[in-house]
Amino acid sequence: MRIALFGDIHANFEALDAVLADSEEQGVTDYVCMGDIVGYNADPGACLEKVRGMNCPTIKGNHDADASGTHSLDTMNPVAASALEWTREQLDEDQRKWLSRLRLVRQVSDFTVVHSTLDQPAHWNYVTNRFDAMSNFSYQFTQLCFHGHTHVPRVYVKDSRVEEVPAESVAIEAGSKYFINVGSVGQPRDGDWRSCYAIYDLDHKLVVFRRVEYDIARAQEKILDAGLPKMLAERLADGR
Ligand SMILES: [Fe+2]
Repeated sequence: MRIALFGDIHANFEALDAVLADSEEQGVTDYVCMGDIVGYNADPGACLEKVRGMNCPTIKGNHDADASGTHSLDTMNPVAASALEWTREQLDEDQRKWLSRLRLVRQVSDFTVVHSTLDQPAHWNYVTNRFDAMSNFSYQFTQLCFHGHTHVPRVYVKDSRVEEVPAESVAIEAGSKYFINVGSVGQPRDGDWRSCYAIYDLDHKLVVFRRVEYDIARAQEKILDAGLPKMLAERLADGR
């Protein structure tokens, strides 16, 4: 069993398409979507329908919650808010309802998935250091938990203490717990513009990160054609 964990797609269909093609080449047998299917980029409906059609375990991200709600977006940064207002208009009622019904947390096979953190998952806190990771580990009852939200791949390991290790291949050792950020398909922010996702090989107890090139020019063109903020197109190339 080889499970692809992919999320923070953010309506970037070119990136999603490239990741799914790569995962097929990698012999992936199952998929789990880590949330934030929509927001920022120009293809919310197409990305939502693609993920919905895969019928795979899917959890809710903050942009999915915001795009499917009717609440004010005043407290958000203006660029994200304007993209979300636009996204709300692109989705039909059935699509918004589907997003609103996604779970915040779920267990899949022998691991847990959450968009942000297991402590207060609806508060959408960011995990950027080992102290944030410690808060999560207090609520993590499976050996592995995968998440997203920061758009930066990261791996925290808890044995006698909690430490961050490089987000490369991770061999899952008995007696340790792992909290793994799988990075972002549609808007990476670690300085590498290529889509990021992870594959968990259950038989070999191994997690590997994948980086995948996609048609970024096409994705940028669609953002500009849709009248979305120009910086959303520019940031894709910067990987920030
Ligand atoms: Fe996100």
